[in-house]
Amino acid sequence: MARFAGRVERAGYGLVLSPLFEEVGVFERVGEGTDVVRKEMYDFEDKGGRHLALRPEGTASVVRGYVQHRPPVPFKAWYVAPNFRYERPQAGRFRQHHQVGIEALGTDDADLDVEVVALAWSVCRDLGLTRIDLLVNSLGDDACRPSYLDALRAYLAARVDELCDEHRSRAADNPLRVLDCKRPACRAATDGAPRMVDHLCEPCAAHFGRVIAGLDALGVPARLEPRLVRGLDYYTRTTFELAASALDSAQNAVGGGGRYDKLAEALGGPPTPGIGFGMGIERLLLACDAEDVFPVPEGAVEVFVLDTAREGGGGSHATVVTAELREAGIGADRAFDRRSMKSQFKQADRSGARLAVVIGDREAAEGTATLRDLRTGDQEVVARADLVGHVRKQLS
Ligand code: HAM
Repeated sequence: MARFAGRVERAGYGLVLSPLFEEVGVFERVGEGTDVVRKEMYDFEDKGGRHLALRPEGTASVVRGYVQHRPPVPFKAWYVAPNFRYERPQAGRFRQHHQVGIEALGTDDADLDVEVVALAWSVCRDLGLTRIDLLVNSLGDDACRPSYLDALRAYLAARVDELCDEHRSRAADNPLRVLDCKRPACRAATDGAPRMVDHLCEPCAAHFGRVIAGLDALGVPARLEPRLVRGLDYYTRTTFELAASALDSAQNAVGGGGRYDKLAEALGGPPTPGIGFGMGIERLLLACDAEDVFPVPEGAVEVFVLDTAREGGGGSHATVVTAELREAGIGADRAFDRRSMKSQFKQADRSGARLAVVIGDREAAEGTATLRDLRTGDQEVVARADLVGHVRKQLS
């Protein structure tokens, strides 16, 4: 989480907290044709008769907030939030999952697509994941997608008997879903299906060309996947997914996202293009586990203060020293309960701190403090008044 926040905040994204539930229409407008909205939403009526839904994903709420508050553009937001989908729970698929994600609204510049896709890629790299495939596609726009869908429908109509049970009846209504189907029957039947990338209008083709060139310039290894259609309705142009090859293929998407240039309008706002991604925290952790790069929790504590003084104020020395260090911007924690020295040093080791400060009765009486390097065991006695300076020097 801290690594994700650091990475995206350095790129200008600010934290946005959105509500756990919204009026159901917010989500219906973003995905009426999708399972996430049609079948999997937890919706309910509140005491005032309002029809509400638990958030199934993060984008709609952020865009609803943008439409309501109209911050200056480009508006760049990041979030970490639980999402709820009434799915059949299985490994890597939960009814409550958590996503970290970003959304950027206000420009359709392809360079922003490059920034967003590259950030998603960097997040995986920051975690030490190496077996990740970055798949990209373009879903076109209102100018080119309708004629592509006609071509795809005609292709599927000629092969309807070869499709899986679910898609035989849905192919005409939502032909894109068939491309996404993982069942062998649909896979085989759609092998030679028309590809959206071959039907892009000139502006969409130019946009996608710039995205591919930009990712290439950054050395981000994106691979065109013409079947990639994503599970939500709002996407236009660039779409992408990060697939962990170390995970079971049915649940191997650790993240995904894309452009949604019509979403702000659909939610009652002015035309405002946007793009973002969401990454499943649980799936990222499963992928780290599978690749054996599980991140060791990074402690923010740099100094651990032991409380061993019995005379003259006792624990107040530890209280004051800890507060002084924190005020000086140094991560500091302390021992409580006046345990034995041995047990406090054990706590200091567990805290992940590099240094321990000991103020016992002798130090308290002399106006000194003992500073111990927890990695080497070296220690020195320093003047109490100069403690912060000594700590700074040792940490640097
Ligand atoms: P999504 O692909 O539905 O996209 O979800 C994003 C990620 O959340 C998935 O790649 C997966 O890692 C994780 N995820 C989804 N459902 C589950 C589940 N049931 N259990 C565990 N993990 C899950 C979105 O939600 C879009 N809002 C992403 C986006 C942001 N597009 C543009 N901006």
